[in-house]
Amino acid sequence: MRIETGVNLQPHNTLGLPAMAETLIHIETERGVRSVVNHPVYGRAPKFILGGGSNVVLARDLSACVLKIEIAGRRLLEEREDAWIIEAGAGEPWHDLVMWTLAQGWPGLENLALIPGTVGAAPVQNIGAYGLELADRLESVIAVDLITGRTVELDARQCRFGYRDSVFKQALAGKSVITRVRLRLPKPWQPVLGYLDLQRKLEENPGVAPSPDQIAAWVCEIRRAKLPDPALIGNVGSFFKNPVVTAEQCRDIIARDPHLVHYPMDDGHFKLAAGWLIDACGWKGKAIGHAAVHDRQALVLVNRGGARGAEIITLANAIQVSVYGRFGIRLEPEPIIVA
Ligand code: EPU
Repeated sequence: MRIETGVNLQPHNTLGLPAMAETLIHIETERGVRSVVNHPVYGRAPKFILGGGSNVVLARDLSACVLKIEIAGRRLLEEREDAWIIEAGAGEPWHDLVMWTLAQGWPGLENLALIPGTVGAAPVQNIGAYGLELADRLESVIAVDLITGRTVELDARQCRFGYRDSVFKQALAGKSVITRVRLRLPKPWQPVLGYLDLQRKLEENPGVAPSPDQIAAWVCEIRRAKLPDPALIGNVGSFFKNPVVTAEQCRDIIARDPHLVHYPMDDGHFKLAAGWLIDACGWKGKAIGHAAVHDRQALVLVNRGGARGAEIITLANAIQVSVYGRFGIRLEPEPIIVA
């Protein structure tokens, strides 16, 4: 482990927000986590766990001890009759893992290509895109308890996955560090092509039975067309969750706004496209100070350069107020907000 003090976290969060960390500890091994737990000073200090910083809004300085997880490594743990089991270190970039598994001939993660962030952050918010969620491919999560230093393995049920949610965002927030993630890639491979954007790609390429690599390439194309590259313009992907409403609420809104984008859920509720709601309120491309709504996807807030966390939060609040005013729906932020 390597300890730094008085560190600006701007290069460590994809929104590029300036926030100071009193202490930043780089952790490269599981043993490193235990060294922190047993450390005379840092052992008892409150902890904040940082991966790629792609799902966090830092709107203040951090007095908690920031643990930057940089644990590397990836391997085929086991080949079963019905699946490949892959294990990766929490610090590996997620997209690199997806591309590596495909290159090895172990498909199953292609719909999750190009999602920013690290492997260790993937279970925290149960990343998902184009009809697939991490929960669908998770075998288990290996984590170290920050009080006892013990290593625990949690299966998918124990991770209590929900829509962009897990036990690591709730009861275990700040209490344990994910060090390794095990994924189960089922055999035989079956493509997941139900999402509208992928259906369009199929229609544009009639007669093609897409390979896993082809699907990954399509997903990358779709994402690049809509979502800003955090390396070029600061953002954390979707800023709000897609809200869930009752059938009655949904009917009510459609009566006033017939174009409402809505998806029926198995339990009779409807999921609405938050991006559509924000767009309908006229926010696309609008800015408050240096914080702006992306001009191709209203669900993404961007740092146009020089924004502070407070500006992003002011913009997010203004969006929430106008969506509530027009549709009666409270939008819930998707990233972890540190304010
Ligand atoms: N829409 C608009 N205007 C906008 C944005 C969207 O009208 O400005 C409409 C679109 O036309 C479409 C619908 O809203 O009919 C949904 O848009 P899209 O397919 O782009 O997906 P999303 O619901 O906005 C979700 C995830 C994304 C994920 C995509 C694809 C959430 C909060 N977001 O976005 O995840 O990549 O589906 O599966 O669930 C992320 O979590 O950071 C993220 C990017």
